Amino acid sequence: MKFKDGKDIKKVLFTKGRIARGVNRAARWLDGKLGGAYAVGICTLKGGMTFYCDLIRKMKTPVQTEFIRASSYGSGTVSRGTAEICGDFGVLLKGRTVVLVEDIVDTGRTVCALKKYLTELGAERVIVVSLLNKPSRREVAACADYSVFDVDNLFLVGYGLDYAERYRDLPYIGVLKDEIYV
Ligand code: PRP
Repeated sequence: MKFKDGKDIKKVLFTKGRIARGVNRAARWLDGKLGGAYAVGICTLKGGMTFYCDLIRKMKTPVQTEFIRASSYGSGTVSRGTAEICGDFGVLLKGRTVVLVEDIVDTGRTVCALKKYLTELGAERVIVVSLLNKPSRREVAACADYSVFDVDNLFLVGYGLDYAERYRDLPYIGVLKDEIYV
């Protein structure tokens, strides 16, 4: 059996404590932004799962939880250029305020595609909250309305972020050693 010993991690970039403080800030910002409105919180799978669960528990405003699957990278390190989206909302989003929660905005393609998708389903307002933002990698003009941490172009894993479906279960965010993915 393998254990989470962190041997594949070059450096811890965000500790549990620092992430928790960032999640609190995002929750306060969202509470203010929503102004008491009952929104639909959409967790973007899979990467957004950890941030989403922590975020909604820190928010004072209640949200209705839904999930959407968006996948651009598969098991590789390069975006396929389009996000495969899988969600089933029917008329649920019509006229609603949606809080879309992501782990990271990288090229921006996923957020761009998801905002378009949710708007076409009738969402009145889509507020995007992302834990991480990598501005240096942006390829399309899309960004989160609130992102907790700006990061450099490093290969990050943990707290929901994966490489080939591994490391999502690390409680911190770290830089993956080059030899693991090169
Ligand atoms: C990752 C991440 C974001 C997206 C950001 O998802 O969770 O959704 O990439 O990249 P972009 O800004 O370049 O589009 P991924 O496709 O790896 O799926 P996952 O969430 O299941 O890991």
